[in-house]
Amino acid sequence: MVANKYDKEELTTRVHIPFIAKQNKNEIMGFIENQKWRYATKKFDASKKISSTDLEKIKESINLAATSYGLQLFKVIIVENPETRETLKQHSWGQSQITEASHLMVFCNFNSVKSEHIDSYLKLKAKLIGKEESAFKGYGDFIKSKTAEMTPDQTSEWNAKQTYIALGNAMAMCAELKIDTCPLEGFSPVEYNSTLGLHKIGLEATVVLTLGYRSVEDKTQHAPKIRKNLKDIFEVL
Ligand SMILES: Cc1cc2nc3c(=O)[nH]c(=O)nc-3n(C[C@H](O)[C@H](O)[C@H](O)COP(=O)(O)O)c2cc1C
Repeated sequence: MVANKYDKEELTTRVHIPFIAKQNKNEIMGFIENQKWRYATKKFDASKKISSTDLEKIKESINLAATSYGLQLFKVIIVENPETRETLKQHSWGQSQITEASHLMVFCNFNSVKSEHIDSYLKLKAKLIGKEESAFKGYGDFIKSKTAEMTPDQTSEWNAKQTYIALGNAMAMCAELKIDTCPLEGFSPVEYNSTLGLHKIGLEATVVLTLGYRSVEDKTQHAPKIRKNLKDIFEVL
């Protein structure tokens, strides 16, 4: 009965529930709307550049991606050199995004998992949590034993999978910032590895992300989104 003293709006306003609920709802709808706005951009406006502030946000979103055990066994090469980008375009089915986008990111997986990768992760974890490294020895041994079960090819593939989660984060972040993207697998990893000298530093090119601003001439932006019905994607067992 006490609640009747207040109308619903007033009662909930006092504890800020409607404000939070409305804000969250708007943010969630904003996310979906931004995902609908996003499309794989075929033609970028080469004159428009991503600001350094936005670029830092995109980098943060990549760094915050979940990875198996948290090991983060990937690197992202940001290729700025115009000649290198021209060479990479030739190894990317001639796709213009490689040279016309504001930024070109090559997501690379580590081609191995070494004990020192695991040790350095646990060292960082111990430091940030404020514990002795020895507290994580058992956990480290467990990760080492599980990763040792994989063949070199399986290790590369496992590390490569992690980069796609980071790619997804970057694309979602970009959509939030109204920055256009096109992910690319239409390239030769062998040629990328050689052009960028990746093997020398224990890396392999996995997937590419071009980022920038759509050209008004890109007809793809007007195409409808082609997606299955949710019922065709989800099964409830
Ligand atoms: C891993 C991956 C690789 C892709 N490779 C290319 C590519 O090489 N070139 C291209 O133009 N689009 C590429 N795409 C874009 C897809 O074709 C596009 O995302 C898909 O058709 C759905 O369209 P939408 O993203 O515009 O909604 C790739 C997408 C993903 C996720």
